[in-house]
Amino acid sequence: MSKLVVGNWKLNPSTAVEAVELARATDFPNAVICPPDIFLMQVGKVLEKASLGAQDLFWENAADITGEASTEQLLKVGVSYVIVGHSSRREEVGETDELVNLKLKAAVAAKLKAILCIGENLELHKQGEEAARQFVAGQLDKALKGIKEGEEYLLVAYEPIWSISTSGTGLTDTPQEAAQMIRYIKDALTERGFGKTPVLYGGSVNGETAGAFLKQDAIEGVLVGGASLKADEFKKVVSQA
Ligand code: PGA
Repeated sequence: MSKLVVGNWKLNPSTAVEAVELARATDFPNAVICPPDIFLMQVGKVLEKASLGAQDLFWENAADITGEASTEQLLKVGVSYVIVGHSSRREEVGETDELVNLKLKAAVAAKLKAILCIGENLELHKQGEEAARQFVAGQLDKALKGIKEGEEYLLVAYEPIWSISTSGTGLTDTPQEAAQMIRYIKDALTERGFGKTPVLYGGSVNGETAGAFLKQDAIEGVLVGGASLKADEFKKVVSQA
C-alpha cells in the first residue's frame, strides 16, 4: 500500500490560476494537497484523486472571531485533512500548546483527519537525543490532553524544526535518525493509547531524498513543504511512496 504524501503549500502560490494549475499537476491518489484557505474551493474542484487539506482551523463554529476558518466551513468545501500545530504557526504566530490542543480536539471531534505536527528546535537538537525525545513526548501530552477517542482521525508528523528548509540551518536529518525518533514517537503514542496513529516525517524532503526516508518501515508518509510547489518534484516524491 502506498504511503501518504502531504503537500503543505503554506502561503503559495499568489494567484488562483496558479493554484489550480499546480493542483491539476499534483493530483495523485496517495496525496493530500493543503493550499492556503483562500484557494481551498478552487483547488477542491480540480482534485479528483488527491484529498484536500487545510493548514489550520479554529476550534468553534459560528463564533464571533475574525480571520479564521471553522471545522464546519472546512468540511463544507470538501476538506478532509487539516494540519494542526505546524512549527511555523507555533514559532511565527505564537501558537501555544493549549491552542494546539483545542484545535486538535475540534478537528478530531468534527471527523477531520488531523495531522499534528511536533518536533524539536535546533537548540534542543544540540542538547542530544534524550532532550529532543522528552520535548516531543511533552508536545504529545499537551496536544492529546482530553482526547479519549477518534484515533482514526489522528496522524502525527515529526518535523524537526532545524531540518525544515526555511529554518536556514542548512542541516538535515538522516533517514535513520528520523526513523529512530519516529519509533520513539510510536512507542510514546502507544503508551498514551494511540498506538495505531500513523507517523509521517517532514523535514525538507524532496524528490531526491524522499525515497530513502520512505524506505524506512517506521516512516508512514511524508509532509512536504517547498517540494510540493514544484509539480515534477512532488510527482517524484509521490512515485517513491
Ligand atoms: P520543507 O517544509 O519541506 O520546505 O522543509 C516542511 C514543512 O514545513 O512542513
